[in-house]
Amino acid sequence: MEPIYLDYNATTPVDPQVADAMMPLLKQQFGNPSSSHWFGILTRKAVIYAREQVAKLINCKPEEIIFTSGGTESNNYALRGYAFANSHKGNHIITSAIEHPAIIEVCKYLEEHNFKVTYLPVDKNGLVSVRSVQKAITQDTILISIMQANNEVGTIQPISEIAEIANENGICMHTDAAQSLGKIPVDISDLNVDLLSIAGHKIYAPKGIGALYIKNGIKLEKLMFGAKQENNCRAGTENILEIVGLGKACEIAKRDFSENHDHMKKMRDRLWTGLVSEIPDIRLNGHPEKRLPNTLNVSFLNMNEYFQLSLFLEIAASAGAACHANNASLSYVLEAMNVPIEYAMGTIRFSTGKMTTQKEIDYAIIKITEIYNTQIR
Ligand SMILES: Cc1ncc(COP(=O)(O)O)c(C=O)c1O
Repeated sequence: MEPIYLDYNATTPVDPQVADAMMPLLKQQFGNPSSSHWFGILTRKAVIYAREQVAKLINCKPEEIIFTSGGTESNNYALRGYAFANSHKGNHIITSAIEHPAIIEVCKYLEEHNFKVTYLPVDKNGLVSVRSVQKAITQDTILISIMQANNEVGTIQPISEIAEIANENGICMHTDAAQSLGKIPVDISDLNVDLLSIAGHKIYAPKGIGALYIKNGIKLEKLMFGAKQENNCRAGTENILEIVGLGKACEIAKRDFSENHDHMKKMRDRLWTGLVSEIPDIRLNGHPEKRLPNTLNVSFLNMNEYFQLSLFLEIAASAGAACHANNASLSYVLEAMNVPIEYAMGTIRFSTGKMTTQKEIDYAIIKITEIYNTQIR
């Protein structure tokens, strides 16, 4: 039997409706969207429609959406692009210690290029304090980048409050919404950010597609040079197949939002309730309430990588953050949250999705308990 999939924060399966929407692009519609003839017009229309679908989900104007190859590229373009295009205004950037490597590594790169970066600490629940953002601002601060929700523990940050401070100080505000989109409301008019990153494969679109929201008027230095596709922001013939997939995934995410939210949360809470009743020495990491509805980051006391390895044969979950780690070294997110080492080393991130069933959860509870009990003997 296949392991039970509880790793939706790592990636999601492609929604069959998304696959169906992509099929015509795979089989018949092959035109270059830049071509003036019928073939080009057909795919150009498909790209225009997909852009509208993405814009509707986050409540912005279609022309403020640029398609990218995923969350990583969106984050790179946002941070690097803004920093280099606005270095005449200042050289200081504020971010948090628990951002995804697609932010942290860009910041490290920028530090090698005359920028100064403040990595704000988080509290024991993984929250960034609004006051710490305020205090970190200097005359040279040009950009603040704080993720809307953390990929490992799911803690949701006070983005609109931080954005308000950024706006008051004339600072550009970016948020990485790779994990939050489709799980909690992501609405540009509420968040008030200038830049926002989207990753397709976290919302049932294929891997290798994403988007960046760029508020009208925000200037970014290009990452890619060439022809003038994507409003002259990202050169290269459009990935029409996946753009259409992302568009459809966004439409579905908007349509089914409440249903998916409630279902993921119900499944996650059932898993937690089941585990707590069977295993005494476990702790929940992340904020008790301000947390993604699908994320359950659990530490098992005095467990190690053998526990994790046995568990992963039965349950597909994540030891750290699956998209970039597969080792037993302590996660920097848990470290920043001061999770005690004897707990932190036995940490598993379970994440539910819209396809998760009650049967899977009940089976997972039995298996996890069984494996835990063999380890403590
Ligand atoms: C918070 C966050 N940002 C960015 C990314 C990177 O996105 P992608 O895999 O589409 O490059 C991920 C992927 O796990 C993520 O969780």
